[in-house]
Amino acid sequence: MSEETTTETAAETTAKSGTAPSRRSLIGWGGAGLALGAVAAGGTAAALRTGSDAVPAALSGDAVPFHGTHQAGIATPVQDRLHFAAFDVTTGDRDALIALLKEWTAAAALMTAGHEVGEGTAGTQPEAPPDDTGEALGLKPSRLTLTFGIGPGLFEKDGKDRFGLKSRRPKALIDLPAFPGDNLDAARSGGDLCVQACADDPQVAVHAIRNLARIGMGKVAIRWSQLGFGKTSSTTPDAQTPRNMLGFKDGTRNIAGTDTAALAKHVWVGEKDGPEWMVDGSYLVARRIRMHIETWDRTSLKEQEDIFGRDKVEGAPQGKQRERDEPNLKAMLPDSHVRLAHPDSNGGATILRRGYSFTDGTDGLGRLDAGLFFLAYQRDVRDGFVPVQTRLSRNDALNEYIQHVGSAVFAVPPGVRDKGDWWGKALFS
Ligand code: HEM
Repeated sequence: MSEETTTETAAETTAKSGTAPSRRSLIGWGGAGLALGAVAAGGTAAALRTGSDAVPAALSGDAVPFHGTHQAGIATPVQDRLHFAAFDVTTGDRDALIALLKEWTAAAALMTAGHEVGEGTAGTQPEAPPDDTGEALGLKPSRLTLTFGIGPGLFEKDGKDRFGLKSRRPKALIDLPAFPGDNLDAARSGGDLCVQACADDPQVAVHAIRNLARIGMGKVAIRWSQLGFGKTSSTTPDAQTPRNMLGFKDGTRNIAGTDTAALAKHVWVGEKDGPEWMVDGSYLVARRIRMHIETWDRTSLKEQEDIFGRDKVEGAPQGKQRERDEPNLKAMLPDSHVRLAHPDSNGGATILRRGYSFTDGTDGLGRLDAGLFFLAYQRDVRDGFVPVQTRLSRNDALNEYIQHVGSAVFAVPPGVRDKGDWWGKALFS
């Protein structure tokens, strides 16, 4: 989390509560213990989702600051659950779209702080539907983050410059090339806008997407969405590495949220990169990757470990003892996943992975529809996902057990700086 992010929200906290607790001392990398202490010492009521007059739920210590230099949900610690939604913009009215983005931003600021949307679930008029759908009432903020992205279709769709934005499309926001083995379902791909909702409680994440979709009725429609039940990456150094659906530790060698130099080099758009409205933002590639887990489950342990180039239990690179030992790529088979994905095999290409496992029932043929919802952030898609996936799609031994079935790419603007700012403001200005 950046210094700027922390400073911004400390001021916000002061404004809301009338006291001046440093947000840094309550939450964040260094303050997790204190934050938990605040809850234990009587903050439980404040930790519950409450009406907007109540004590800010953020003070309970388990809300992630919404305002800041960068959007939360990228370098901030990874939560356990995901609800990701891609939207089609159905209105052609630029002003209506701007009004929606302002409304979305206000709602996102409330929900991430643990508040209800608008007038809340009780509302003020019994004759009207309530502003908030209510299923998160009484639940904690659960470290909810809402990360907003803009897809290529907002700049141009079917040859039409619907919102006068065509000339503002970033060069780094490319249409992804077709990769060998892709079996993409159009209904699970693309999108003009996206919102990545991550939280420790799935109901909080689902509530957030549902309420944004409700606010957007008539202007946007959900094109596809994906639930994720288990994180497959970590951005927190020394945290226990989670395991993916193939049983392997996933996220061992990822960019840490505290590594500001690596983030600046590989994740955040810099001033020289342009366009100006994207500086401090990032680019997101989302891929729905189905796993043929029934076949995998009949594969020997030795073969599984050769496929990744790491051992299954400890997660150590082949030829090494411990998970965090530096990989020796030459000790791995030439077609092993880690060897091929490593920056040294791809001219230094480095991405921040933030994916989730999914299981969406069965496919009608007695197999689980399960896999990895792969999310990767980078400073430029052309220098990040594209070179790595080009190599993996051609040679990765893992390809026998996986298939990419959905794909989308989004420009993720910088953080919302303050209450006067809103998602996409700099783009539309
Ligand atoms: C279902 C598909 C996938 C599975 C199960 C999977 C699993 C894994 C595992 C277990 C590791 C080793 C632990 C780690 O360092 O995280 C790893 C590493 C890695 N994977 Fe994947 N992965 C998948 C797809 C992808 C894709 C599509 C990309 C990018 C295009 C990718 C990029 C990477 C990178 C960059 C590393 C770290 C390599 C290193 O620096 O050592 N993976 N993956």
